Amino acid sequence: MSKFRWLSVIAALVAAMALAACGDDDDDGGDGGGGSEGGGGGGGAIALLLPESKTARYESQDRPNFERKVEELCSDCEIIYSNADQDAAKQQQQAEAAITQGAKVLVLDPVDAASAGAVVQRAKQSQIPVVSYDRLITDADIDYYISFDNEKVGQLQGESLVSKLEEDGAEGDIIMINGAPTDNNAKLFKQGAHSVIDDSPFNVAKEYDTPDWSPDKAQQEMDQAITAVGKDGFVGVYAANDGTAGGAIAAMKGQGVDPKTIPVTGQDAELAAIQRILIGEQYMTVYKAIKPEAEAAAELAVALARGEEPQADTSETVDNGMKDVPSILLEPIAVTKENINDTIVKDEFWSVDEICTGKYADACKEAGIQ
Ligand code: BGC
Repeated sequence: MSKFRWLSVIAALVAAMALAACGDDDDDGGDGGGGSEGGGGGGGAIALLLPESKTARYESQDRPNFERKVEELCSDCEIIYSNADQDAAKQQQQAEAAITQGAKVLVLDPVDAASAGAVVQRAKQSQIPVVSYDRLITDADIDYYISFDNEKVGQLQGESLVSKLEEDGAEGDIIMINGAPTDNNAKLFKQGAHSVIDDSPFNVAKEYDTPDWSPDKAQQEMDQAITAVGKDGFVGVYAANDGTAGGAIAAMKGQGVDPKTIPVTGQDAELAAIQRILIGEQYMTVYKAIKPEAEAAAELAVALARGEEPQADTSETVDNGMKDVPSILLEPIAVTKENINDTIVKDEFWSVDEICTGKYADACKEAGIQ
């Protein structure tokens, strides 16, 4: 072979290797974790399975933070990403597909805490470890659990609502819009909130569990509640997250109840909720720093994909009905207008520019956010 031919063969080989290192960039099939940076130690495919996209956090926080951290730690790791759009059967298929594509570990935020047990069994047959992400998979042989102290989330919501009502000298009833009955977190939020509200002077007039955490269904529930108790028949609303709070607030507006006169709780520190808090349409939210949660999951996943012992402190355990699961539980923080600056802005969860656009600029100034 001539010198020129040899050089072309070598060039073609180098190009092919570079292409292979770029991984698969298909959105459904997975994001390439390729690149020249990141730690060594070998990699593998990591499946991230998130439950829905109506709640903003998953696509805007969990997914990008998880992917960034995996890419930083492991240039050879590929991420197989899927979102189940609130559909437990779809999530099961997505997990199957990830296993078929060679996933070495599943990071699974289950749509349905109980039925996800079948996915865990399937993974275990192939010796694939499972990290239960944010929501606990119950009665299943999971390896790790990463979340927040979820009963505390409910307590913070209940305490903020009750103390605000007491401060305002309000008397009357509360309406409770809880999360999805299939989500173990929703059960814990509800328990935590009830532990405070049931001991308070306020009675729960109507209470709903919201299928799929759907904001539209929350709006229908609130509509029904207002019709049943009347426009003046309630003084506060417990909404389990910002999506359901948005639904409840829309229902109030639709029926001519000014949300500025009724404190409403929430959770997730969604941008829309922070803006509603600033203009007084929502009273509070619970800030859960999703970045450390997603990053801790990424660290665990990379170690497990490499067959290494994870470094994180998982000495805390949570009983999931089958075993004491090694866990990492982070602290939630209650946020009202008063501490947006010291929490959300300080942590760069949302920037001042993102929060203080257009009609929110004046409210930002008043709250000292600039
Ligand atoms: C999460 C919340 C989220 C809700 C709806 C819960 O399991 O902890 O942050 O708002 O699900 O997706």
